[in-house]
Amino acid sequence: MTSSKVSATTTGRELTKLVTPGPILLLGAPGSGKGTQAKELVRLWGIPQISTGDLLRANVAQGTELGKVADALMKEGKFVSDDLVNQMVEARLALPDTHNGFILDGFPRTLPQALWVDSHILFTIPLVAVKINVDYNQLLRRITGRRNCPQCQRIYNVFMHTPKRAGYCDVDGSELTQRSDDTEEVYKGRMKAYADLTAPVIEHYRQQGRFVEVDGDLSVDEVTTEIKRAIERLRRNQ
Ligand code: AP5
Ligand code: MG
Repeated sequence: MTSSKVSATTTGRELTKLVTPGPILLLGAPGSGKGTQAKELVRLWGIPQISTGDLLRANVAQGTELGKVADALMKEGKFVSDDLVNQMVEARLALPDTHNGFILDGFPRTLPQALWVDSHILFTIPLVAVKINVDYNQLLRRITGRRNCPQCQRIYNVFMHTPKRAGYCDVDGSELTQRSDDTEEVYKGRMKAYADLTAPVIEHYRQQGRFVEVDGDLSVDEVTTEIKRAIERLRRNQ
């Protein structure tokens, strides 16, 4: 994998001159806004979002062998095995759109996955990690209120980020759906897995130094601004 400078005219939005986004990791509890923010960074920097949750859900929808294994685990809020997830990510990273960088969303989320990333992701600049912090009660509202567009993957919330027409996507008019793991009961399991298995990943990146925490309780735009500033600062100091 190689990297080159991104032109300031790559997107229509303001982009700090000569910043190579490189590999970016978004960390945070289920519902903290990783997917929402990843989509904003995709628009900003023109690099792809690699969401292991989305890739696994695509496998479930297609009925692949991986999808069959993942479906049962995801419905209980349990993690899919490290080997299967690492292989899936390796295949995704091999695609040419990762040339200038990529946003890892929901991966790595165990220490063995983080160690795999350290030894397998060979990029010309190091990975930077951003953790999005959100209050627990807010997380529950975000999870139970989340709705997704099955067509364009846009993310909504019936309590706080509502579509213009209830139940339908603003962009393409598709009927919105709800993820099967977005129930209060499954959420407790997801939060336990996060506390038990992902907390060490956060410490791993904190110790590496290229790590920043942002307040995810702000508006979507404000969080994006915080993340963008944090990444640019980390890139200048690397
Ligand atoms: P995954 O799909 O990754 O789920 P998750 O980590 O639980 O995170 P979510 O997608 O639920 O939340 P998010 O942080 O993306 O929040 P979002 O932006 O949508 O994984 C699902 C499952 O797959 C796992 O449980 C596991 O089984 C398996 N899996 C995945 N990766 C794996 C791995 N690496 N290893 C093993 N197993 C794996 O936002 C949430 C809501 O909040 C939305 O409604 C949104 O509109 C709203 N919102 C967002 N930001 C704001 C804001 N600033 N203000 C107001 N509302 C906001
Ligand atoms: Mg997500």
